Amino acid sequence: MYNTQAVLTNNNEIILNYLIETIGCQMNVCESDWLGSVLSTYGMSRVSSLSDADIVILNTCSVRYQAEQKAFSYLGRVEEFRQQNPDTKIVVTGCMAERLGLKIKQRFKSVDLIVGAKDIDITALKIIDLCNIEAEKQEELNIPSDIARYVTIMRGCDNYCSYCVVPFVRGRETSLDAEIIVKKCSLFVKNGAKEIMLLGQNVNSYQYNDVKFTSLIKKISTINGLERIRFMTNHPKDLGDDLVSVMATEPKVCSHIHIPMQSASNKILKAMDRKYTYERYLELINKLRNVITDVSITTDIIVGFPGETESDFEKTLKAVKDIRFGGLYVFRYSPRPDTKAFELIDDVPLEEKKRRHAIILKESNKISVEIVAAMVGSMQQVLAERFENGVIEARTRGGRKVFVKGGTGKDLGKHLNVVIKEAKINSLFGDVV
Ligand code: 5AD
Ligand code: SF4
Repeated sequence: MYNTQAVLTNNNEIILNYLIETIGCQMNVCESDWLGSVLSTYGMSRVSSLSDADIVILNTCSVRYQAEQKAFSYLGRVEEFRQQNPDTKIVVTGCMAERLGLKIKQRFKSVDLIVGAKDIDITALKIIDLCNIEAEKQEELNIPSDIARYVTIMRGCDNYCSYCVVPFVRGRETSLDAEIIVKKCSLFVKNGAKEIMLLGQNVNSYQYNDVKFTSLIKKISTINGLERIRFMTNHPKDLGDDLVSVMATEPKVCSHIHIPMQSASNKILKAMDRKYTYERYLELINKLRNVITDVSITTDIIVGFPGETESDFEKTLKAVKDIRFGGLYVFRYSPRPDTKAFELIDDVPLEEKKRRHAIILKESNKISVEIVAAMVGSMQQVLAERFENGVIEARTRGGRKVFVKGGTGKDLGKHLNVVIKEAKINSLFGDVV
């Protein structure tokens, strides 16, 4: 029996409403998206509020302590809801489900199903089973027609950076079948997608039989109707000249690349097992900038890794000033069980981590403001992704969000030339030419 939110259709079939709450990276967003598409083919319907949900799915992240705390507090709220709605099912998926497994149930007794990140492929089937659904599966996946879609091309990671829990929760690196990826992209494009973001922990090391990452990009770029290709994320050690050259020559590949630097101190990079030096990293940045003039480079930085002295930190701060990233994410080091760094003494006090975090953020914000201010008056080619209240939400090739006036809903999915009139730190405002 399901709770009263379940809806009866004309033929008296029960439609179950599912809610997916996602914590963490694009990988998780992508997997939640895909899970949603599969559940929809079984006749389930996606809702966005807890009060409408028959099944609540929490897709979790373990990369930092805070992310797990966020999942626990969400589960606390869902358990309260469940007391009033005893038929609601609670499902926990993703990295924390993999890492903690049944331990989650010791704390949150009403959780019905826990499926770890490694079992993502069978999550939908397990949910169907949990709900005793016997509905006939529709032939084609029920894919919403979003303009920009994520497509996972590989799972897991073999790099074992010393701070990172990903290899433990997501398992060995596996590249997915190239032909299936291309078919999936084509299906999305058929359903209205204009932009595909290829996802993996380290897309540069994609290799399926004789298809490597750049060959995969070339295959995808032949899909008619597809306008833009993006990819995420990269490890500097595997980023070869072939990718730089595909970015420079393949018009559908956007001029944005995310390359986590983590630190600019060679001592810390070594302790992190990152397998490159700061000099090597810089060489890569220069190469990209020489070949792709408008390239936007973004990065990830960790502050307060064990043993990071003031002088190590100063090196990272100087690198941020010198490189002038198009944007960056900065994280306070968080010790994760199972990782090699977990054995090290977490010797940078929290207050100091917070101070270093704030300094990097302040510097990066200052640079971002300068970069966007310099774009005012320029003409940008943007892809229209959404239309709301008379304003088009679009993105530049470099990945910046632009709110555009002067267009209509008919412009969705089209490239527009826009003059930038105003710039704020995370968004630009412009008019259609
Ligand atoms: N502590 C802090 N940040 C981390 N990241 C990964 N593991 C940790 C950790 N234990 C950051 C890295 C990575 C990003 C996704 O998360 O910067 O690139
Ligand atoms: Fe974690 Fe390093 Fe793999 Fe990225 S490359 S997922 S930081 S182990």
